[in-house]
Amino acid sequence: MSTWKGRDVLNILDFSRGDLEELFELAKKYKEDLKNHRVNRILEGYVIALAFFEPSTRTRMSFETAAKRLGAATVGFTSGEGTSIEKGETLADTIQMLDSYADLIVIRSKFEGSAILASEVAVHPVINGGDGKQHHPTQAMLDLFTVTELFGSPDGLTYAVVGDLRYGRAASSFLLGLTRFNPEKVILVSPKQLRARPEVLMTLMDSGIRYHESDLETALEEADVVYVTRIQKERFPDPAEYEKVKGSYRITRGLLEAKAKNGLKILHPLPRVDEISHDVDNTEWQAYFIQAANGIPVRMALLSLVLKGDEL
Ligand code: CP
Repeated sequence: MSTWKGRDVLNILDFSRGDLEELFELAKKYKEDLKNHRVNRILEGYVIALAFFEPSTRTRMSFETAAKRLGAATVGFTSGEGTSIEKGETLADTIQMLDSYADLIVIRSKFEGSAILASEVAVHPVINGGDGKQHHPTQAMLDLFTVTELFGSPDGLTYAVVGDLRYGRAASSFLLGLTRFNPEKVILVSPKQLRARPEVLMTLMDSGIRYHESDLETALEEADVVYVTRIQKERFPDPAEYEKVKGSYRITRGLLEAKAKNGLKILHPLPRVDEISHDVDNTEWQAYFIQAANGIPVRMALLSLVLKGDEL
């Protein structure tokens, strides 16, 4: 029996391996349906609210596309500008309104805990589309789906997670998501100012996942999956600190030709800045555009399971 119906999606740790495997099965079916132009209107009559207070291309537009592919309508905004937040309305009151207009709310905000607050106010399910540096659970879902698609399972693989592990919510949620599986080990590669946060490392440790820090070249020699992230300029409290670490790692085709383990795949939640050079895009190592495209079937599956559960 499915446990998905009516659930909030706030933190990847709220979901078991069984939950994620159920999601991946349905996403796989939807991906096949999309490929074969099979139309599915299972969410006809539903309205999804997209409350994006922070910039987004993939998360917002893939939720919107996923909803529309399944026959649902969407309402929402792409920044606080133009909403009555500008007149001093609180987040809680804004969510109260959206909850009365829609059947499900997706929220993105720079404030940590905003999705939890929204879930406390709303009667309908709330999905966290990213809250500050904290969580990006649906990104981790599509990342782990992509790994499953590429390798058959997230189990038994060596992962290198590269970049801004301190402020990058996608990297943190990916690391937390790995605790639902059995990786061989995790290699952490970051400038020392941007090391993974203690609560993330503690969760890895409590889950018995072996991890260690290393440099990029060694990680490329050992890893099956290299998860690269952008340095999150917008989250640095001091711009001078960003200047010290910007551009501190860069994956190029030449580096991969010299160092990459056989079969290595590169993931990146995107957007990228300069951490993966464009000459990697048309190589066998590139999996980040496949990963981004998987946002559609995974979010279609997520919306279906949260709104319909066993009725599917
Ligand atoms: N990966 C991701 O969250 O991208 P957007 O910021 O474009 O939504």
